[in-house]
Amino acid sequence: MTLGSLPRPTIPGVSLANLQSQMPPPGETGRRGSLAFRNSPPKRRHSKGAQSPSGAPGGCTRGSNFQPNPLGWAGLGGVGLPPAGAHKRSGRAAGRSRWGAMALREWLLWALPSADPGAWIVLLGVLLLSWLALRPLRLLRGPDEVGYAGEAGCSRAEAARRARRSRRIGQLPPVYPNGWFRLLDSAQLARGEVRNVAALGEQFAVFRNSDGKVCVVDAYCPHLGANLGIGGQVVGSCIECPFHGWQFDGESGKCVRIPYAEKVPEFAKIKVWPSCEVSDMILVWYHCDGIDPTWRVPDREEFLPRPCPFRGLTEHFVNVHIEEIPENGADTAHLSFLHRHAFLSGADLRYMHSPFWTFFRHHWQADWHPDPEPNAHCSRLQLKHNITLFGKHFSFMDLRVSAWQVGPSLVFLVLRFPLLGQGIIVQSVTPVQPLMQQVIHRIYFQKNVPAFIAKMVLRAECSQFERDVMIWNHKQYLSKPLLVKEDGAIQRHRRWFSQFYGEKSPKITSQKESLDW
Ligand code: FES
Ligand SMILES: [Fe+2]
Repeated sequence: MTLGSLPRPTIPGVSLANLQSQMPPPGETGRRGSLAFRNSPPKRRHSKGAQSPSGAPGGCTRGSNFQPNPLGWAGLGGVGLPPAGAHKRSGRAAGRSRWGAMALREWLLWALPSADPGAWIVLLGVLLLSWLALRPLRLLRGPDEVGYAGEAGCSRAEAARRARRSRRIGQLPPVYPNGWFRLLDSAQLARGEVRNVAALGEQFAVFRNSDGKVCVVDAYCPHLGANLGIGGQVVGSCIECPFHGWQFDGESGKCVRIPYAEKVPEFAKIKVWPSCEVSDMILVWYHCDGIDPTWRVPDREEFLPRPCPFRGLTEHFVNVHIEEIPENGADTAHLSFLHRHAFLSGADLRYMHSPFWTFFRHHWQADWHPDPEPNAHCSRLQLKHNITLFGKHFSFMDLRVSAWQVGPSLVFLVLRFPLLGQGIIVQSVTPVQPLMQQVIHRIYFQKNVPAFIAKMVLRAECSQFERDVMIWNHKQYLSKPLLVKEDGAIQRHRRWFSQFYGEKSPKITSQKESLDW
């Protein structure tokens, strides 16, 4: 998040108009009421040998030599996973920042001499609320936390274990389709850092070399099998194994150094996986036949070309086959049933019918279709969403969504509200086990819209998504579902998705082959 994206802070008792009205003519220095002002350079009063209250020599008078930003205002909101380049600020943003620093400084000039504890409580309250309102949302749900029906005498974790053990999985398609998959967020991998990621039935060592480029290699060292992602070190463009110190180049995979050997064998190599960084994500290309990427992943700005700062993310683990998650978009009939209840009534399917919330209804219209060549690996969902309260439609809450599915695992959802502005949600689905998907939603929203709006939108989306999670966690995959004419898009989606499987795509035939999470 950039400081420039922060809404202008409001501090009780201090406004720009207020400050301007209290400014003295040029050259005059003085104090009006309790608000100190000064528009000429302050005179520093030093008394030789005197000590300041902090013990530092100089004995400067309180209120005459404050640092411009003593509480580090510019640091507020800098938490979470900010997007790359978050430090860049526009001139306008810098102006807002100067205004914020000035307002804070004037507040301190007023509050300090008055020594009013109430003023300090208000200031701390404002700072705390600003921090809470501005920092990106992070909703991280564990594997057992969402979508299981825990009840008295049975914890949710126990309910999750029972559901996984007793479930019939059906005749599944292959479990790892071909395509690009998110392994990490860009911000999770600093220069020179190495991480081990388990996904798609593989162990990856992901590292950022000294030039800042991300490399993904097989985690297991071909020498004696140590895991390079656990304790490996980045040396220039190479990764060094923690066991015997062999070094492998991150781009060619070649072993370039064996510390105790005279010669490095020509065949000493490690597998390198094609990777890229797009929309603050580190992606890996997986293909069952080992062929190179056949399409690229667009950046989110190609879908919504306007500055949209990062406003938050959610993470879920869903116990389902990967294909069922995008199929949800083609299953347009479920929207008007499962997702009609107010998002405020919660995600638990057993309680969302609460009569209390019947005055609040979601209404959906959807159309799904695959894209033609050369984008046959993409599909598109157009959604119209309305809300009624007590049967009355409020058009200012209408929402239009254009969702582009790019390959088997990535979706870019462009959101357009008539009053609240525009934003984009990037969804990634990564199989961390054959039937366990890590699903991440990242929201970016129009810069001049307060951050809490984007966070509210993400929370609402999260609540609706968690209803799907509860269905997915318990359902069986039906290879021959009983469909009616209006379900036609589901069959078309299955045909479209089958392009991501190959002869050698890994399959499982029983729940036992899918390791328990
Ligand atoms: S196991 Fe990696 S260098 Fe020996
Ligand atoms: Fe859904």
